[in-house]
Amino acid sequence: MKDVLYSLFADYRTQIVFLHVMSAVVWVGGMIAMRFAAHHSIQMLETAPLKLQRTAHALKRLFAIVSPFVVILIITAVIMAVGLGFRAAAVDADGKVIDEVAMHLYQLIHVKEVIWMIMSINLGAMILRRNKAQKFLDKNDFSGAKSQIELIGRYMVPLNIILGIIAIYLGVTLRNGY
Ligand code: HEM
Repeated sequence: MKDVLYSLFADYRTQIVFLHVMSAVVWVGGMIAMRFAAHHSIQMLETAPLKLQRTAHALKRLFAIVSPFVVILIITAVIMAVGLGFRAAAVDADGKVIDEVAMHLYQLIHVKEVIWMIMSINLGAMILRRNKAQKFLDKNDFSGAKSQIELIGRYMVPLNIILGIIAIYLGVTLRNGY
């Protein structure tokens, strides 16, 4: 398996890094556009039900667009993490540290993995909340829908934006670290 990932990365290095960066652009950029452009525009609508309906619809579109890129991001991440040989440079066959700087970079890989995991769980939770909100909207229960949607805009999307920006910064650190 490791050998397959090595040769995959050797043969398609540019395309794999491109797909990784594009996925980050779509996921993080999509959330920023939603939170700081679409959200404010939707708030200018006349009635609360209209705002909730437009928000639920825009979130549905956003989540459908970003979901495939979340998967592409982790696939390309695994190929890069193995293909660039971070573990091999950091520890020997017995797991003993052979290079402190390489070990530091290898640890950053794990930090990025945790960030991706938290962002994905948060995204899954947002999708579930949005679906619940849609059910409330279909029954004209606007306060129920608001209770589901409010948290998404106030905390959940901003959390993923912050984590995404940290992951991008760590990506640049990794790129310049070897
Ligand atoms: C599973 C977790 C992840 C791993 C193992 C990982 C691994 C890497 C590695 C090894 C690089 C350097 C590529 C190179 O040197 O050519 C990189 C770059 C990058 N990563 Fe990740 N990544 C992960 C998750 C993420 C996430 C969640 C984001 C953002 C949402 C992200 C955004 C980026 C960006 C924008 C770059 C390019 C930096 C540059 O070109 O200077 N990564 N990543």
